[in-house]
Amino acid sequence: MVFWTLLWIIFSPMSSPLRTSMAGNQITSFIFISFVLGQALSADYIYSAVMPQTVTALTGSCVQIPCTFNISNFEDKREMAESIYVIWLKNQSHYDSTESFIAFNSSENIIRGFSDIKMTRDLNERNCTTVFYNITMNHSDRYYFRLEMEPDVFRPTFNPNTANSSDSSKTVKIIVRDSPQPPELKLSKPQYVMEESTVNLSCSAEAPCPTQPPTISWSNIPKSARITTQLQDKPDKTQSVFSYMTFKASYKDHRKNITCTATYPRNTPNDSTVEGNITLQVLFPPKETHIIITPSVGTNVTLTCKSKASPSNDMNYTWYKRGQETPIAWRKKINLNRTQTASYYCTAQNKHGKQSSEDVQLTDDSQNGLSHLVIYGCTGGLLAFVLLSAFFFYCIRTKASRQAHVTGKDQAKDKNRGMMAIYVKNDIVISKNGEKKESDDLLYTEIDFSKLQTDHKTKEHPNNGPVTEYAEIQVT
Ligand SMILES: *[C@@H]1O[C@H](CO)[C@@H](O)[C@H](O)[C@H]1NC(C)=O
Ligand SMILES: *[C@@H]1O[C@H](CO)[C@@H](O)[C@H](O)[C@H]1NC(C)=O
Ligand SMILES: *[C@@H]1O[C@H](CO)[C@@H](O)[C@H](O)[C@H]1NC(C)=O
Ligand SMILES: *[C@@H]1O[C@H](CO)[C@@H](O)[C@H](O)[C@H]1NC(C)=O
Ligand SMILES: *[C@@H]1O[C@H](CO)[C@@H](O)[C@H](O)[C@H]1NC(C)=O
Ligand SMILES: *[C@@H]1O[C@H](CO)[C@@H](O)[C@H](O)[C@H]1NC(C)=O
Ligand SMILES: *[C@@H]1O[C@H](CO)[C@@H](O)[C@H](O)[C@H]1NC(C)=O
Ligand SMILES: *[C@@H]1O[C@H](CO)[C@@H](O)[C@H](O)[C@H]1NC(C)=O
Ligand SMILES: *[C@@H]1O[C@H](CO)[C@@H](O)[C@H](O)[C@H]1NC(C)=O
Ligand SMILES: *[C@@H]1O[C@H](CO)[C@@H](O)[C@H](O)[C@H]1NC(C)=O
Ligand SMILES: *[C@@H]1O[C@H](CO)[C@@H](O)[C@H](O)[C@H]1NC(C)=O
Ligand SMILES: *[C@@H]1O[C@H](CO)[C@@H](O)[C@H](O)[C@H]1NC(C)=O
Repeated sequence: MVFWTLLWIIFSPMSSPLRTSMAGNQITSFIFISFVLGQALSADYIYSAVMPQTVTALTGSCVQIPCTFNISNFEDKREMAESIYVIWLKNQSHYDSTESFIAFNSSENIIRGFSDIKMTRDLNERNCTTVFYNITMNHSDRYYFRLEMEPDVFRPTFNPNTANSSDSSKTVKIIVRDSPQPPELKLSKPQYVMEESTVNLSCSAEAPCPTQPPTISWSNIPKSARITTQLQDKPDKTQSVFSYMTFKASYKDHRKNITCTATYPRNTPNDSTVEGNITLQVLFPPKETHIIITPSVGTNVTLTCKSKASPSNDMNYTWYKRGQETPIAWRKKINLNRTQTASYYCTAQNKHGKQSSEDVQLTDDSQNGLSHLVIYGCTGGLLAFVLLSAFFFYCIRTKASRQAHVTGKDQAKDKNRGMMAIYVKNDIVISKNGEKKESDDLLYTEIDFSKLQTDHKTKEHPNNGPVTEYAEIQVT
C-alpha cells in the first residue's frame, strides 16, 4: 500500500507545468525506485503496439505496415527525451547492437536491405505506420518495432517475448508473393437469387501498397448494374480496394459468369492481372415458352414444349387443345396426326410459376392436296428453269456471233466493203395440203475485205442438194 502511494506521489507531478525543470530529479527517482520498487515500476513501462500479424506484399511494389503503439505516460517520456526515433529489426526480436539486422533507423534515415522505408506519421500521434518500398522476395520475414527515446529515457522493443508471449500482434510478418492473389467475390445473398430481387456483389482486391492500389474492372456486367469502387480499411487496418456492384436480377443473368479483374501497378515485368469469377443462379418462373414442330412435312408430327426456367429440373408441361378445358397430355413432347386439325398450346410450370405458349395451328396438308400442288409446282418450276436456261444459252450464243460482226463493221471504216452470204439455211416447210416446200433463208453480213483474208471454197452438199458456199474468214 505504501509503495502505491509513493508511486502516485512521484508520478502525479508529471502532468504539472513544473515537470520540465524536474526532469533530472525524476530520472534519479526512477533509478531509485526501480531498485526498491521493481515490481510497481513495471506499471510505468507498459508498452504495446498493434499491427497486423501478417501482411502480404507483392514484389516490385511497396507494402504499408499499419501500426499504432502506446506507452504508459508517453507524453511525459517524450518531454524528457531529447530525441525519439524508430527502429525496425528484421528477423530477430531481441535487440543486440552487434547481431541485430537493423532494416531502418529513423534517426539518420539509415536503411538496410531496402531501397526505401518511410514513416507516414508523426510519432507523437502514436502512429508507427511504415511503408517499405520496392519489395523483393528477400524481404519475407518477421519485423520488430523498437523505439529509442534518448538519452536513456526508454528503449522498448515491441516484441511478443517480453510482455505476453502469446500476443503476436506486437510483431508483423511480411509475406512476399511474386504474383497477386485473386480478388475475392462475394454475393450479399446466398448463391440462388430470386428474379427481380436486388443483388449486391462485392469484389475486393488487397492493396498492400495503398499509394499504388490495384484497379478493378468487371466483365459480363448485368444490364442494370451500378458500380462504386473505393479503397477501404479492413479490421486489421490493412487496406483493400472494394468494388460494389448493385443490380436487379433478371432471368437473362441466370448462369452469367461475372468476372472481376484486378490489375496491380508494379515495377516488374511479372503478371500483374488476376481475376475472380462468380456464376449467378437466378430463380425464375418459365419464360419464352414456345412450341417446336418436327417434322414439318408428313402426317406424323411431334410437338415439343420449350421453356426457360430456373430451377428447370422439376418442370411440368401440360398440353391443351384450344377450346377444351381438360389437358390432353402431361409431358414435354406429344405426337399428333396432322389429320387431327386443331390449335394446340402448352403450359410450362416450375415452383415459381407457370407460362402458356402461343397456339400452334395444325393443318392437314395431305387432304386439301396442298402438298401435291407443291410437288407439281416444284416440278413445273424446274422444267421452266431448264427451258429458260436453254433459251438463255441460245440467246447468248447468237449475241456473241453478232458481236463479232459488229466489231468487224466498226473496223471497216466505209472502205472496200463487200456483201456476201455467209450462211445458207435450208428450211423445209410443210404446207397445209401436205406439199413440201423448200425455202432458202439467207443471212447477210458486211465484211471489210481490206482487213480480212478469206479462203474461198466451194463444196458439194452430201445429198446432192443445193450447193452451199462456205467461207473461212481469218481475222488478222
Ligand atoms: C495508452 O495507454 C493508457 C494507459 O496505459 C491509456 O490510458 C490510453 O488511453 C492509451 N492510449 C491509446 C491511444 O490507446
Ligand atoms: C532468423 O534468425 C534465426 C535465429 O533467430 C536464424 O536461425 C535464421 O537463419 C534467421 N533467418 C534469416 C532469414 O535471416
Ligand atoms: C540509430 O541511429 C542513431 C544515430 O545514428 C544511433 O545513435 C543509434 O544507436 C542507432 N540505433 C540503432 C538501434 O542502431
Ligand atoms: C496512422 O497513419 C496511417 C497512415 O497515415 C493512417 O491510415 C491511420 O489511420 C493512422 N492510424 C491512426 C490510429 O490514426
Ligand atoms: C527497385 O529495385 C530494383 C532492383 O531490386 C532496382 O533496379 C530499382 O531501381 C528499384 N526501384 C526503386 C524505385 O527503388
Ligand atoms: C537475397 O538473399 C540471398 C541470400 O539469402 C542473396 O544471395 C541475394 O543476393 C539476395 N537478393 C537480393 C536482391 O537482395
Ligand atoms: C496475452 O494476450 C492474449 C491475446 O492477445 C490475451 O488473451 C491474454 O490474456 C494475454 N496474457 C497475458 C498474461 O497478458
Ligand atoms: C467463368 O469465366 C472464366 C473466364 O472468363 C472461366 O475460366 C471460368 O471457367 C468460367 N466459370 C464458369 C463457372 O463457367
Ligand atoms: C472461376 O471460379 C471458379 C470457382 O469460383 C474457380 O475454380 C476458377 O478457377 C475461376 N476461374 C477463373 C478464370 O478465375
Ligand atoms: C392419320 O390419320 C389418318 C386418318 O385419320 C390415317 O389414315 C393415317 O394413317 C394417320 N397417319 C398416321 C401417321 O397415324
Ligand atoms: C407416328 O407416331 C407414332 C407415335 O409416336 C409412331 O408410333 C409411328 O411410328 C409414327 N409413324 C410414322 C409414319 O412416323
Ligand atoms: C408437377 O406435377 C406433380 C404431379 O402433378 C406435382 O406433384 C408437382 O408438384 C408439380 N411440379 C411443379 C413444379 O409444379
